[in-house]
Amino acid sequence: MQDRYGDGITMDLLIRPCRSVLYIPASNPRALEKARRLDADAIIFDLEDAVAPDQKETARTRLRELFDSTDFGPRFRIVRINALDTPWGHADARAFADTGVDALLLPKVDGAAAVDELAAIVPALPLWAMMETPLGILNASEVAAHGRVAGFVMGTNDLAKDLGARSDPMRMPLMTALQSCLLAARAHGVIAIDGVYNAFRDNEGLRRECRQGRDMGFDGKTLIHPAQIAIANEVFAPDESEIDHARRQIAAFEEAEREGRGVAVLDGRIVENLHVEAARRLLARAAAILKMKGGAK
Ligand code: COA
Ligand code: MG
Repeated sequence: MQDRYGDGITMDLLIRPCRSVLYIPASNPRALEKARRLDADAIIFDLEDAVAPDQKETARTRLRELFDSTDFGPRFRIVRINALDTPWGHADARAFADTGVDALLLPKVDGAAAVDELAAIVPALPLWAMMETPLGILNASEVAAHGRVAGFVMGTNDLAKDLGARSDPMRMPLMTALQSCLLAARAHGVIAIDGVYNAFRDNEGLRRECRQGRDMGFDGKTLIHPAQIAIANEVFAPDESEIDHARRQIAAFEEAEREGRGVAVLDGRIVENLHVEAARRLLARAAAILKMKGGAK
Protein backbone atom coordinates (compact mmCIF):
# COMPACT_ATOMS: atom_id res chain seq x y z
CA MET A 1 0.00 0.00 0.00
CA GLN A 2 1.18 3.46 -0.83
CA ASP A 3 2.27 5.52 2.18
CA ARG A 4 1.10 8.85 0.85
CA TYR A 5 2.15 11.06 3.76
CA GLY A 6 5.48 9.39 4.53
CA ASP A 7 6.32 8.22 8.07
CA GLY A 8 3.60 5.56 8.10
CA ILE A 9 0.77 8.04 8.73
CA THR A 10 -1.41 6.21 6.24
CA MET A 11 -1.27 3.20 8.53
CA ASP A 12 -2.31 5.36 11.49
CA LEU A 13 -5.31 6.62 9.57
CA LEU A 14 -6.35 3.12 8.65
CA ILE A 15 -5.82 1.88 12.18
CA ARG A 16 -7.77 4.70 13.81
CA PRO A 17 -11.13 2.99 14.41
CA CYS A 18 -13.87 3.97 12.00
CA ARG A 19 -16.19 1.02 12.56
CA SER A 20 -19.36 3.01 13.20
CA VAL A 21 -19.88 6.28 11.33
CA LEU A 22 -23.18 7.86 12.36
CA TYR A 23 -24.99 10.52 10.34
CA ILE A 24 -26.62 13.14 12.52
CA PRO A 25 -28.83 15.71 10.78
CA ALA A 26 -27.51 19.14 11.80
CA SER A 27 -31.13 20.33 11.87
CA ASN A 28 -32.04 17.96 14.73
CA PRO A 29 -31.03 19.50 18.10
CA ARG A 30 -32.09 16.45 20.13
CA ALA A 31 -29.94 14.16 18.01
CA LEU A 32 -27.00 16.61 18.07
CA GLU A 33 -27.21 16.82 21.82
CA LYS A 34 -26.67 13.04 22.00
CA ALA A 35 -23.54 13.07 19.83
CA ARG A 36 -20.93 13.31 22.56
CA ARG A 37 -22.38 10.39 24.54
CA LEU A 38 -22.74 7.90 21.70
CA ASP A 39 -20.26 5.07 21.17
CA ALA A 40 -19.81 5.84 17.47
CA ASP A 41 -16.19 5.97 16.30
CA ALA A 42 -17.07 8.81 13.94
CA ILE A 43 -19.92 11.22 13.43
CA ILE A 44 -20.96 12.82 10.17
CA PHE A 45 -22.75 16.04 11.01
CA ASP A 46 -24.98 16.36 8.00
CA LEU A 47 -25.86 19.62 6.27
CA GLU A 48 -26.81 17.91 3.00
CA ASP A 49 -29.65 15.48 2.32
CA ALA A 50 -30.90 15.07 5.90
CA VAL A 51 -31.55 18.83 6.14
CA ALA A 52 -34.52 20.48 4.38
CA PRO A 53 -33.69 23.51 2.17
CA ASP A 54 -35.44 26.00 4.45
CA GLN A 55 -33.35 24.81 7.41
CA LYS A 56 -29.91 24.82 5.78
CA GLU A 57 -28.74 28.20 7.11
CA THR A 58 -29.99 27.64 10.67
CA ALA A 59 -28.45 24.16 10.74
CA ARG A 60 -25.07 25.54 9.64
CA THR A 61 -25.09 28.25 12.33
CA ARG A 62 -26.18 25.81 15.03
CA LEU A 63 -23.48 23.34 14.09
CA ARG A 64 -20.75 25.99 14.22
CA GLU A 65 -21.91 27.03 17.68
CA LEU A 66 -21.93 23.42 18.79
CA PHE A 67 -18.30 22.92 17.71
CA ASP A 68 -17.27 26.04 19.60
CA SER A 69 -18.91 24.81 22.82
CA THR A 70 -18.66 21.01 22.85
CA ASP A 71 -15.91 18.48 23.41
CA PHE A 72 -16.65 15.36 21.38
CA GLY A 73 -13.85 13.31 22.92
CA PRO A 74 -12.01 10.86 20.69
CA ARG A 75 -14.79 10.67 18.11
CA PHE A 76 -13.80 11.50 14.55
CA ARG A 77 -15.84 14.57 13.56
CA ILE A 78 -16.79 14.98 9.93
CA VAL A 79 -19.06 17.63 8.44
CA ARG A 80 -20.96 16.75 5.27
CA ILE A 81 -21.41 19.99 3.39
CA ASN A 82 -23.75 20.65 0.47
CA ALA A 83 -22.33 20.22 -3.03
CA LEU A 84 -20.52 23.31 -4.33
CA ASP A 85 -23.02 23.82 -7.16
CA THR A 86 -25.87 24.30 -4.66
CA PRO A 87 -26.74 27.67 -3.06
CA TRP A 88 -25.21 26.53 0.28
CA GLY A 89 -22.02 24.62 -0.58
CA HIS A 90 -19.51 27.49 -0.59
CA ALA A 91 -20.81 29.01 2.64
CA ASP A 92 -20.78 25.57 4.31
CA ALA A 93 -17.16 25.04 3.30
CA ARG A 94 -16.08 28.47 4.51
CA ALA A 95 -17.97 28.09 7.81
CA PHE A 96 -16.04 24.95 8.78
CA ALA A 97 -12.67 25.65 7.15
CA ASP A 98 -11.10 26.87 10.39
CA THR A 99 -12.92 24.73 12.94
CA GLY A 100 -11.28 21.75 14.59
CA VAL A 101 -13.24 19.19 12.58
CA ASP A 102 -11.33 16.15 11.38
CA ALA A 103 -12.61 16.24 7.80
CA LEU A 104 -15.12 17.79 5.42
CA LEU A 105 -17.21 15.34 3.39
CA LEU A 106 -18.13 16.46 -0.12
CA PRO A 107 -21.24 14.86 -1.66
CA LYS A 108 -21.72 13.65 -5.23
CA VAL A 109 -18.05 13.82 -6.22
CA ASP A 110 -17.78 13.13 -9.96
CA GLY A 111 -14.01 13.42 -10.24
CA ALA A 112 -10.83 15.13 -9.03
CA ALA A 113 -11.98 18.54 -10.32
CA ALA A 114 -14.72 18.71 -7.66
CA VAL A 115 -12.11 18.05 -4.99
CA ASP A 116 -9.83 20.74 -6.45
CA GLU A 117 -12.65 23.25 -6.12
CA LEU A 118 -13.22 22.45 -2.43
CA ALA A 119 -9.48 22.26 -1.72
CA ALA A 120 -9.13 25.85 -2.96
CA ILE A 121 -11.71 27.07 -0.42
CA VAL A 122 -10.49 24.91 2.46
CA PRO A 123 -6.70 24.91 2.48
CA ALA A 124 -5.98 22.81 5.54
CA LEU A 125 -8.55 20.13 6.36
CA PRO A 126 -8.53 16.55 5.08
CA LEU A 127 -11.35 16.00 2.60
CA TRP A 128 -13.58 12.96 2.28
CA ALA A 129 -15.60 12.14 -0.83
CA MET A 130 -19.10 10.67 -1.15
CA MET A 131 -18.85 8.03 -3.85
CA GLU A 132 -22.41 7.91 -5.14
CA THR A 133 -22.65 8.94 -8.78
CA PRO A 134 -21.92 6.69 -11.78
CA LEU A 135 -19.28 9.14 -13.02
CA GLY A 136 -17.70 9.35 -9.57
CA ILE A 137 -17.41 5.56 -9.42
CA LEU A 138 -15.80 5.46 -12.88
CA ASN A 139 -13.32 8.13 -11.67
CA ALA A 140 -12.73 6.58 -8.23
CA SER A 141 -9.02 6.15 -8.83
CA GLU A 142 -8.33 9.82 -9.64
CA VAL A 143 -10.40 10.91 -6.64
CA ALA A 144 -8.54 8.59 -4.25
CA ALA A 145 -5.23 9.71 -5.76
CA HIS A 146 -6.00 13.38 -5.06
CA GLY A 147 -3.51 14.59 -2.47
CA ARG A 148 -6.20 16.09 -0.20
CA VAL A 149 -8.57 13.10 -0.15
CA ALA A 150 -8.33 10.98 3.00
CA GLY A 151 -11.60 9.04 2.97
CA PHE A 152 -14.34 7.53 0.82
CA VAL A 153 -17.96 7.11 1.95
CA MET A 154 -20.19 4.96 -0.23
CA GLY A 155 -23.51 6.66 -0.98
CA THR A 156 -25.40 3.53 -1.87
CA ASN A 157 -28.90 5.06 -1.93
CA ASP A 158 -27.99 7.74 -4.46
CA LEU A 159 -26.01 5.24 -6.48
CA ALA A 160 -28.87 2.71 -6.64
CA LYS A 161 -31.19 5.50 -7.74
CA ASP A 162 -28.85 6.66 -10.53
CA LEU A 163 -28.17 3.12 -11.70
CA GLY A 164 -31.85 2.24 -11.73
CA ALA A 165 -30.90 -0.73 -9.55
CA ARG A 166 -33.42 -2.67 -7.52
CA SER A 167 -33.00 -3.40 -3.83
CA ASP A 168 -31.27 -6.74 -3.32
CA PRO A 169 -30.30 -8.23 0.07
CA MET A 170 -26.89 -9.33 -1.25
CA ARG A 171 -26.32 -5.97 -3.02
CA MET A 172 -25.27 -7.66 -6.25
CA PRO A 173 -26.33 -4.65 -8.39
CA LEU A 174 -23.90 -2.46 -6.40
CA MET A 175 -21.01 -4.89 -6.13
CA THR A 176 -18.91 -3.54 -9.02
CA ALA A 177 -19.18 -0.01 -7.66
CA LEU A 178 -18.38 -1.02 -4.09
CA GLN A 179 -15.35 -3.00 -5.18
CA SER A 180 -14.11 -0.34 -7.61
CA CYS A 181 -14.09 2.22 -4.81
CA LEU A 182 -12.44 -0.17 -2.40
CA LEU A 183 -9.71 -0.92 -4.94
CA ALA A 184 -9.13 2.79 -5.51
CA ALA A 185 -9.10 3.51 -1.78
CA ARG A 186 -6.60 0.74 -1.04
CA ALA A 187 -4.42 1.64 -4.01
CA HIS A 188 -4.03 5.17 -2.65
CA GLY A 189 -4.16 4.65 1.12
CA VAL A 190 -7.61 6.12 1.74
CA ILE A 191 -10.18 5.09 4.40
CA ALA A 192 -13.23 3.33 2.91
CA ILE A 193 -16.61 3.36 4.66
CA ASP A 194 -19.56 1.30 3.45
CA GLY A 195 -23.04 2.73 2.75
CA VAL A 196 -26.05 2.82 5.10
CA TYR A 197 -28.55 0.08 5.86
CA ASN A 198 -31.94 1.75 5.52
CA ALA A 199 -34.12 -0.60 7.60
CA PHE A 200 -32.83 0.78 10.89
CA ARG A 201 -34.92 -1.51 13.10
CA ASP A 202 -33.79 -4.71 11.33
CA ASN A 203 -30.78 -5.78 13.38
CA GLU A 204 -30.22 -9.10 11.65
CA GLY A 205 -30.23 -7.47 8.22
CA LEU A 206 -27.79 -4.84 9.45
CA ARG A 207 -25.49 -7.47 10.92
CA ARG A 208 -25.49 -9.40 7.64
CA GLU A 209 -24.67 -6.30 5.62
CA CYS A 210 -21.96 -5.18 8.08
CA ARG A 211 -20.33 -8.60 7.76
CA GLN A 212 -20.49 -8.40 3.99
CA GLY A 213 -18.82 -4.96 3.98
CA ARG A 214 -16.20 -6.07 6.51
CA ASP A 215 -15.39 -9.21 4.53
CA MET A 216 -14.94 -7.11 1.39
CA GLY A 217 -12.43 -4.92 3.23
CA PHE A 218 -14.33 -1.80 4.28
CA ASP A 219 -13.12 -0.08 7.45
CA GLY A 220 -16.63 0.54 8.80
CA LYS A 221 -20.22 1.34 7.98
CA THR A 222 -22.20 4.54 7.82
CA LEU A 223 -25.27 4.45 10.08
CA ILE A 224 -28.49 6.41 10.35
CA HIS A 225 -29.69 5.54 13.86
CA PRO A 226 -27.93 5.17 17.25
CA ALA A 227 -29.40 1.66 17.63
CA GLN A 228 -27.12 0.54 14.78
CA ILE A 229 -23.86 1.55 16.50
CA ALA A 230 -23.29 -1.50 18.71
CA ILE A 231 -23.67 -3.95 15.83
CA ALA A 232 -21.23 -2.11 13.55
CA ASN A 233 -18.73 -1.76 16.42
CA GLU A 234 -18.89 -5.47 17.09
CA VAL A 235 -18.75 -6.69 13.50
CA PHE A 236 -15.89 -4.41 12.40
CA ALA A 237 -13.73 -5.16 15.47
CA PRO A 238 -11.42 -8.17 15.53
CA ASP A 239 -12.93 -10.79 17.86
CA GLU A 240 -11.08 -12.79 20.54
CA SER A 241 -10.45 -15.78 18.26
CA GLU A 242 -8.98 -13.54 15.53
CA ILE A 243 -6.75 -11.81 18.08
CA ASP A 244 -5.60 -15.17 19.44
CA HIS A 245 -4.95 -16.48 15.92
CA ALA A 246 -2.94 -13.37 15.01
CA ARG A 247 -0.79 -13.76 18.14
CA ARG A 248 -0.16 -17.43 17.39
CA GLN A 249 0.72 -16.64 13.76
CA ILE A 250 3.32 -14.11 14.89
CA ALA A 251 4.74 -16.51 17.49
CA ALA A 252 4.90 -19.38 14.98
CA PHE A 253 6.64 -17.21 12.40
CA GLU A 254 9.18 -15.86 14.90
CA GLU A 255 10.00 -19.40 15.98
CA ALA A 256 10.43 -20.48 12.35
CA GLU A 257 12.75 -17.52 11.76
CA ARG A 258 14.87 -18.47 14.77
CA GLU A 259 15.23 -21.89 13.20
CA GLY A 260 16.30 -20.32 9.92
CA ARG A 261 13.03 -20.94 8.02
CA GLY A 262 11.11 -18.24 6.14
CA VAL A 263 7.77 -20.02 6.33
CA ALA A 264 5.94 -21.38 9.40
CA VAL A 265 3.04 -23.78 9.65
CA LEU A 266 0.15 -23.15 12.05
CA ASP A 267 -2.91 -25.41 12.33
CA GLY A 268 -2.02 -26.99 8.99
CA ARG A 269 -1.73 -23.67 7.11
CA ILE A 270 1.34 -21.77 6.01
CA VAL A 271 2.30 -18.51 7.68
CA GLU A 272 4.47 -16.19 5.59
CA ASN A 273 5.71 -12.66 6.08
CA LEU A 274 2.54 -11.21 4.55
CA HIS A 275 0.38 -13.06 7.07
CA VAL A 276 2.50 -11.68 9.90
CA GLU A 277 2.09 -8.17 8.52
CA ALA A 278 -1.71 -8.62 8.45
CA ALA A 279 -1.64 -10.14 11.95
CA ARG A 280 0.31 -7.16 13.35
CA ARG A 281 -2.15 -4.81 11.73
CA LEU A 282 -5.09 -6.66 13.24
CA LEU A 283 -3.49 -6.42 16.72
CA ALA A 284 -2.83 -2.71 16.21
CA ARG A 285 -6.48 -2.23 15.25
CA ALA A 286 -7.62 -4.15 18.35
CA ALA A 287 -5.36 -1.98 20.53
CA ALA A 288 -6.68 1.21 18.92
CA ILE A 289 -10.25 0.10 19.64
CA LEU A 290 -9.40 -0.55 23.29
CA LYS A 291 -7.81 2.90 23.53
CA MET A 292 -10.91 4.45 21.95
CA LYS A 293 -13.13 2.79 24.57
CA GLY A 294 -10.92 4.15 27.33
CA GLY A 295 -11.09 7.66 25.88
CA ALA A 296 -14.85 7.63 25.29
CA LYS A 297 -15.75 6.97 28.94
N1 COA B 1 -28.22 10.51 15.55
C1 COA B 1 -28.43 10.80 16.86
N2 COA B 1 -29.61 10.58 17.48
C2 COA B 1 -30.59 10.06 16.74
C3 COA B 1 -30.44 9.74 15.38
C4 COA B 1 -29.20 9.99 14.78
N3 COA B 1 -28.97 9.72 13.50
N4 COA B 1 -31.60 9.20 14.91
C5 COA B 1 -32.45 9.20 15.94
N5 COA B 1 -31.86 9.72 17.04
C6 COA B 1 -32.43 9.89 18.36
C7 COA B 1 -33.78 10.60 18.26
O1 COA B 1 -33.56 12.00 18.30
C8 COA B 1 -34.50 10.07 19.47
O2 COA B 1 -34.09 10.83 20.59
P1 COA B 1 -35.13 11.20 21.74
O3 COA B 1 -35.54 9.88 22.33
O4 COA B 1 -34.36 12.06 22.66
O5 COA B 1 -36.26 11.91 21.06
C9 COA B 1 -33.94 8.66 19.66
O6 COA B 1 -32.71 8.63 18.93
C10 COA B 1 -34.85 7.60 19.16
O7 COA B 1 -35.21 7.89 17.83
P2 COA B 1 -36.37 7.08 17.09
O8 COA B 1 -37.70 7.56 17.59
O9 COA B 1 -36.10 5.64 17.23
O10 COA B 1 -36.18 7.46 15.61
P3 COA B 1 -36.84 8.68 14.83
O11 COA B 1 -38.13 8.17 14.28
O12 COA B 1 -36.84 9.90 15.70
O13 COA B 1 -35.81 8.91 13.64
C11 COA B 1 -34.79 8.66 11.52
C12 COA B 1 -35.62 7.98 12.63
C13 COA B 1 -34.36 7.61 10.50
C14 COA B 1 -35.62 9.73 10.86
C15 COA B 1 -33.54 9.28 12.19
O14 COA B 1 -32.86 8.23 12.81
C16 COA B 1 -32.64 10.07 11.28
O15 COA B 1 -32.92 11.20 10.95
N6 COA B 1 -31.48 9.49 10.92
C17 COA B 1 -30.48 10.16 10.13
C18 COA B 1 -30.87 10.22 8.68
C19 COA B 1 -29.75 10.82 7.89
O16 COA B 1 -28.86 11.44 8.40
N7 COA B 1 -29.79 10.64 6.56
C20 COA B 1 -28.75 11.13 5.68
C21 COA B 1 -27.72 10.12 5.40
S1 COA B 1 -28.35 8.65 4.65
MG1 MG C 1 -26.24 11.03 -1.14
